[in-house]
Amino acid sequence: MPRKKSTASAKKNTAKNVKKPSGKNNTADKGKKTAKAAPSAADKKSASKKKRVQTLALLRGMKDITPDHSESFVKIFRAADAIATSYGYSYVETPVVEYTSLFVRSLGKGTDVVDKEMYMFEDKDGGKVALRPEMTASVARAYIMHGMHTLPQPVKMWYWGPMFRYDRPQAGRYREFHQFGCETFGERSPVVDAELICVAYNLLRDLGVNASVHINSIGTLQEREQYIIELVGYLRSKRSYLSELSKKRITKNPLRVLDSKEPEDQAVVEEAPQIIDWLSDASKNYFMGVLEYLDEVQIPYVLTPTLVRGLDYYSDTVFEMFADDADGGSQNALVGGGRYDGLVEQLGGQSVPGCGFSFGVERVFAILEKRRRQQNSGQEEEQIAQKDRKGLFFAQLGEQASKRALYLIETLRRDGITVYHNLGKSSLKAQMELAHKHGVTHTLILGQKEVLDNTVLLRDMDSGIQEVIDQNKLKQTLKKMFNL
Ligand code: HAM
Repeated sequence: MPRKKSTASAKKNTAKNVKKPSGKNNTADKGKKTAKAAPSAADKKSASKKKRVQTLALLRGMKDITPDHSESFVKIFRAADAIATSYGYSYVETPVVEYTSLFVRSLGKGTDVVDKEMYMFEDKDGGKVALRPEMTASVARAYIMHGMHTLPQPVKMWYWGPMFRYDRPQAGRYREFHQFGCETFGERSPVVDAELICVAYNLLRDLGVNASVHINSIGTLQEREQYIIELVGYLRSKRSYLSELSKKRITKNPLRVLDSKEPEDQAVVEEAPQIIDWLSDASKNYFMGVLEYLDEVQIPYVLTPTLVRGLDYYSDTVFEMFADDADGGSQNALVGGGRYDGLVEQLGGQSVPGCGFSFGVERVFAILEKRRRQQNSGQEEEQIAQKDRKGLFFAQLGEQASKRALYLIETLRRDGITVYHNLGKSSLKAQMELAHKHGVTHTLILGQKEVLDNTVLLRDMDSGIQEVIDQNKLKQTLKKMFNL
């Protein structure tokens, strides 16, 4: 290692050879030199602040759902669970990460989701994997892998979970978002399509969201292929009027030109040949069947010839739902779905038809949150706080009381009474402060004496009045008080 040595010594020599200025300023200059060689405390602080800032940053297009807003999120989940269960759908869960090929084969090359928006990476074994951009493909994979074609058909499944698309974030469009969805496998019948539309539409209605159903049929694969030849010819003849994006799509994914949002494309799209004219009588009759069922259950719909959806697996019925103007209607669909009779076979399974929808949780969440803000804006903060007050706090003093308190809290919870506490705290003052912070109307207080007497104090947090209650009658008293 002679070379290394010489470098080291050269450095040493250079350092040594630096001429130290003499006189008063010596110490100050020494300080300056030290500051250059090693980062100062201030530098270190700012570097660690930068690091912290990055560690605490969210990725673009992703967000937290914090406790102050989570109520609407949980409300949607509970309503989704309730309606899916009531229509006979069973819950299914699939991994967030899947082999990339699953999505490429099902959603299709040339689609925006596959070509531009998938989060793809290699895992440590070199496997090509992706964060799921949607769940229909995963549920179809699960249907095949678990031999669900041997079960009584149709097999009806619902799901809820995060999806990932590396899209340009904007209002209502995130890189991580949640979908609630329902999929029905094993039956091709218009009533299945209509039922799925009912589930999504009724869920929106249950959540108080007024929406319109846009619907179309894109027929079978063969019918679509014929139509695409016609469409491409037409689009080529109008190429100069189209937006740059649509020009590119003529060869890559011509159907997508039809649901272009670019203003300059609208006139061309309006005059475009309509897919319905390329459908066979069988496909038209199937579609009529779906519409008749919708009429029967009085779900209004808008026939939308330009609706083609952006994924390759669809056939026949396709639909989307949009919030009505009163609910801040926008170009963003709240729900998207349709029939996919070729998907299971395409993924290596039997020839099994399927149909389903996915519901964009964040988009509905935004409507509910906006409404909550509007409703609250007319009220005084005090009133809102009063309205939101709920539940009980349980305070205790001493070890015996703490143990007894835990038992009582458990029994109350089982009866649906929300109980806040901090059994780790021993000071009554600290516990009462916490009770105030939770905004509860009443606090239960259990001390040594109450443990021996088998009683508990119930304190009204506003008036400060306390009453003694027999522990055996606690449940009845509270149930009466809280109308449970
Ligand atoms: P999709 O139209 O891609 O269909 O998505 C369904 C819904 O998910 C949309 O209508 C929208 O509400 C929501 N969504 C999509 N992308 C985003 C985003 N970037 N940010 C926020 N929300 C978003 C599917 O995913 C199909 N799997 C639907 C389906 C199920 N077809 C048959 N079965």
